[in-house]
Amino acid sequence: MIGTGYVGLVSGTCFAEMGNHVTCVDIDKEKIEKLKEGVIPIFEPGLEPMVVRNVKNKNLFFTTNLPEAIKKSDIVFIAVGTPMGEDGSADLQYVLAVAKEIGETMQKPLIVVDKSTVPVGTGDKVKSVIQKELDKRGVDLTFDVVSNPEFLKEGAAIDDFMKPDRVVIGAESEHAFKMMKELYSPFFRTHDRFITMDIRSAEMTKYAANTMLATKISFMNEVANICERVGADVNNVRVGIGSDSRIGYSFIYPGCGYGGSCFPKDVKALKRIAEQHGYTPQLIEAVEDVNDRQKLVVANKIIKKYGEDLTGKTFAVWGLAFKPQTDDMREAPAIYIIKELVKRGAKIQAYDPKAIEEAKGFYLKGVDVDYKESKYEALKGADAMVLLTEWKEIY
Ligand SMILES: NC(=O)c1ccc[n+]([C@@H]2O[C@H](COP(=O)([O-])OP(=O)(O)OC[C@H]3O[C@@H](n4cnc5c(N)ncnc54)[C@H](O)[C@@H]3O)[C@@H](O)[C@H]2O)c1
Repeated sequence: MIGTGYVGLVSGTCFAEMGNHVTCVDIDKEKIEKLKEGVIPIFEPGLEPMVVRNVKNKNLFFTTNLPEAIKKSDIVFIAVGTPMGEDGSADLQYVLAVAKEIGETMQKPLIVVDKSTVPVGTGDKVKSVIQKELDKRGVDLTFDVVSNPEFLKEGAAIDDFMKPDRVVIGAESEHAFKMMKELYSPFFRTHDRFITMDIRSAEMTKYAANTMLATKISFMNEVANICERVGADVNNVRVGIGSDSRIGYSFIYPGCGYGGSCFPKDVKALKRIAEQHGYTPQLIEAVEDVNDRQKLVVANKIIKKYGEDLTGKTFAVWGLAFKPQTDDMREAPAIYIIKELVKRGAKIQAYDPKAIEEAKGFYLKGVDVDYKESKYEALKGADAMVLLTEWKEIY
């Protein structure tokens, strides 16, 4: 498993739990050293005991030595980050660097699985990078490239991985489909939920899924903004429409916009993919615009009540993470809202059950925020409370 982040660590650990021998590789030495000592770099419910158990059972190993890991493996997963590039497209440098290393070092036939979220056509790129390195070495080894997008949700990642709604596999050979089905079959005890397709469709499936969910969120936020203006209660409307099975209850909660490591970058990446192919994705553009505006709706409400200058005002912020049950703050609305309030002179007293270290060390580094140990401490002396993450303990 190359890349030991949210996806790599969870997937690798769950495969180990099913009895496979898994080696998790990362270029981050500190992360790997900590993992070897049983220190988990992220907060994910249920992950720590599973890692510790599988390390003890000798099913799960951690290393920075990629060639060694490849030598021992039949299936290699690429699970490195695909962050947003400058033009909004997915930055493939990490994926392709790993493909190059695989080509440089593989010693036997391999199945190379792309688990990172990547644009349509990346499978072909990975294949040609590996082949180029094999040609340079003058060795003749067969390999399959497979697309196996990951649908886990941070905060419920173990459950999602152990009991998946579906496993999408894009491949070109019967051998690759067979190996992947064998690997995943322990996760389907009653009936399997494999969906097999070509590589490009599998790559597109991941972007389409995330963009559909982001669309539901932006749609509902738009409805909420209209409700507010016409005197309707969006939560009544939510229940009213959610009861229609064609619409459903999930992802129609109004809020302060979507964040996280996936929706913002994947919506943008799909937009870029469309544009690069001469198509203007109007709906996707609107989903993004509505979300950008939504992130400041809460700040604007505060400004409307307390005025443009917030000097002397104190606000208690409950929740920093982009959603409950995670310490992930990537693109969290809290970052934008807190910065806007601080810029206007406000004092912020913030509490989050898990994300304070992330905020202090990175996402709100240098921003004047007074972090509190409990939600009630954050409230002391506050003019208003701003609830930004629906953690069970604070919602
Ligand atoms: N986080 C999620 O909820 C989620 C869900 C589904 C899909 N995805 C996708 O999965 C991919 C990984 O996401 P993530 O959140 O796990 O990322 P992450 O940033 O948490 O982890 C990526 C890891 O890859 C490592 N890495 C980078 N280059 C490497 C190399 N050459 N060799 C070895 N390791 C290397 C980094 O050090 C880091 O630890 C992305 O494409 C993302 O879009 C993420």
